[in-house]
Amino acid sequence: TKKSYDEPHRNQFHFSPPEKWMNDPNGLVYNEGVYHLYYQYYPEDIVWGPMHWGHATSKDLIQWDHQPIALFPDEHGYIFSGSAVVDHKNSSGFGTAEKPALVAIFTYHLMEGEKAGRNDFQTQGIAYSNDNGQTWTKYEGNPVIKNPTSIRDFRDPKVFWHDESNQWIMALVAGDHAKFYSSPNLKEWTYLSEFGKTVGAHGGVWECPDLFKLKVEGEEEEKWVLLISINPGAPNGGSGTQYFIGDFDGNTFTTNQKDIKWLDYGTDNYAGVTYNNTPDDQRLFIGWMSNWNYAQKTPTKEWRSAMTIPRKLDLIKLKGDYLLKSVPMDALNKYATSMQKFEKENLDSIYTLDISKSTSHKTSFYIDPDKSISIELKNKANEKVVINYNTETSEFQIDRSKSGITDFEESFKDSMRMPVKTNNIRPKIELFVDRSSIELFFDDGNYVMTLQVFPTSPYDEMTFSGQQGQLLDHFEYSTIKSTWNE
Ligand code: FRU
Repeated sequence: TKKSYDEPHRNQFHFSPPEKWMNDPNGLVYNEGVYHLYYQYYPEDIVWGPMHWGHATSKDLIQWDHQPIALFPDEHGYIFSGSAVVDHKNSSGFGTAEKPALVAIFTYHLMEGEKAGRNDFQTQGIAYSNDNGQTWTKYEGNPVIKNPTSIRDFRDPKVFWHDESNQWIMALVAGDHAKFYSSPNLKEWTYLSEFGKTVGAHGGVWECPDLFKLKVEGEEEEKWVLLISINPGAPNGGSGTQYFIGDFDGNTFTTNQKDIKWLDYGTDNYAGVTYNNTPDDQRLFIGWMSNWNYAQKTPTKEWRSAMTIPRKLDLIKLKGDYLLKSVPMDALNKYATSMQKFEKENLDSIYTLDISKSTSHKTSFYIDPDKSISIELKNKANEKVVINYNTETSEFQIDRSKSGITDFEESFKDSMRMPVKTNNIRPKIELFVDRSSIELFFDDGNYVMTLQVFPTSPYDEMTFSGQQGQLLDHFEYSTIKSTWNE
């Protein structure tokens, strides 16, 4: 019999493992019509342990099929985070030019080394697949990058093909900075350069880098984006992801950026990276919807945590400054059924919406950015999440202190803030609510807040109240159907 995955906090349109512990997304690659999602996985418990790569596949990044575990720990260590590429030119010799191999590049974490007090326990290894990612063979020459000089944190390789210099480029992190390497064949790697010791946020260790090029929307200009996850040190505590906009010449990443930029202001979007080899060169992003502050203590028993909804990253210039936006995947609309729709509603009094029909839904509307608005999700037990947009401080603030189960971690009750700017006279708000998560996109994804919540029963009412003259413009509420066992 098929399991229904109907547990109280089980998200219905977000990826989560059928059972046990999951953290970072890994090996995001598209090949032969299939999106692969590998992930940090411990199949024996619902807390972190010896890391494997779990595996799922999808045609649209929304509905996932679970696959057997792809990579198991071996004599070189646990399998930590990393990436995967399609070796189109068969540079590695692992496939053929007609049937290119998938190659995974990951970090080995040798527990015995760490326990013995050595500092060189993280190295980089590779594996290849000749059946589109189903089964993998580890390279006999592993590790392909040894730990150079006892660098304790030396991990999370993101590899991509750099056309301009005709070689593979790897970004990885080493504690407080990123390092870049190049290779002709994915087996032999040459150290190129480093970046970041004196710029950006340094409240914690750097993890899970990603480097890619984007065209600035509506302009000829192209810039390189470097994503860096950092833990702790995020703007609202614990784990978060910063980014740098700059240039990459096949050797060095440079930037003039002075300020610190954050990909997401919610507490629960970490270790996110983007797909290699996507159709139409889209930059598609998935993050782990949790925070190391409490990831191992959240109130689920069968499984732990989920991924964010996939997002398309775009680069814009807003008031003279670069901004990386996150746009929720269109494909989600396929699973949505419109339930309530209207042109305009004046918010001089409270507007209440019955959302008791479904635990999983999407609401979108446009607002007047010069007037404040407050949105509340509430259940019968009076558990609630309050989302405030405040024009005086020009920020969003989310309070989940009374959202349901919060006692597993004190800091879970802290409210979170997000400063925003907009050029729009009617910026859009999109709100994706699932059984244990909320994703808020402001102004077409220019700003994002992703967070977990654990109500003891689903929120069944949503209320909107605003400063005089505030309105709900082009309001639409849709339920989103479960993507399990489609
Ligand atoms: C990020 C991270 C990575 C590491 C992995 C281990 O959450 O700490 O740096 O590779 O998790 O599971």
